[in-house]
Amino acid sequence: MKPEKPLEPHPALPDYYPDLAQRPAFVRGLFDRTARYYDHVNRLLSFGSGSWYRRRALERVGLRPGMTVLDVAIGTGLVARQAMAITGDSRAVIGLDVSAGMLDEVRRLLGIPLIQGLMEQLPVADACCDLVSMGYALRHVADLNVTFREFHRVLRPGGALLILEIARPATSFKRALLKFYLGRLIPLLGRLTTGEKDMQTLMRYYWDTIENCVPSETIVQAIRDAGFAEAGCDVEFDLFRAYFGRKG
Ligand SMILES: C[S@@+](CC[C@H](N)C(=O)[O-])C[C@H]1O[C@@H](n2cnc3c(N)ncnc32)[C@H](O)[C@@H]1O
Repeated sequence: MKPEKPLEPHPALPDYYPDLAQRPAFVRGLFDRTARYYDHVNRLLSFGSGSWYRRRALERVGLRPGMTVLDVAIGTGLVARQAMAITGDSRAVIGLDVSAGMLDEVRRLLGIPLIQGLMEQLPVADACCDLVSMGYALRHVADLNVTFREFHRVLRPGGALLILEIARPATSFKRALLKFYLGRLIPLLGRLTTGEKDMQTLMRYYWDTIENCVPSETIVQAIRDAGFAEAGCDVEFDLFRAYFGRKG
């Protein structure tokens, strides 16, 4: 049988790496080096609203006390922290990330079980959790189809998927505004307030991956193709995307 062509979230970005084969090492290295500044820059770009937004999204997909959560691409734990607040149980949330730097940060901040690994090959058992959450990392996976199938595999029947993302706005005016804000101003502020050139690169890369990402319809279809029922996407301000699905 012919191997399935990967569904990449965006094409290679030659300003950062020559081809997609180099992307995982580039992404991992960049997050390793910037982990200790991540929360600071996140506050800067979301004006402090990030926690509220993440919590509301988790509640909307039905997270409740008694459920177990696998938060993939946990980073410094911004989604996991809100999941812990809702479930009221630190053992109910498991975090996974590929970056040792990010895992060191989150280990300092939250006392939850952590796994170093790739979301394309989750090192956890089938049907082990009620919710898979992923905040702002969809643009970093090697293959959306493979990743969504993994999410489906590890969920219990009836379990929910939540993926938070930023997407390129549809109108050219909003796009130009966001390009200036996320693509220029935030990278510059990130560098000036931390003194780290890598922080500027991370935030430039953030915008470039948003600008080049496949459309939301492609992502929803891939979620559906992975076996999820009720797949869809909530859009706010032509910018914020909350993708969801339910395992039948
Ligand atoms: C922008 S941070 C998101 C952190 C957090 N979820 C949030 O809501 O802010 C993206 C995270 O994805 C992780 N990551 C990137 N590619 C990954 C992969 N293939 N598997 C697992 N983690 C990955 C990075 O190490 C980084 O910690």
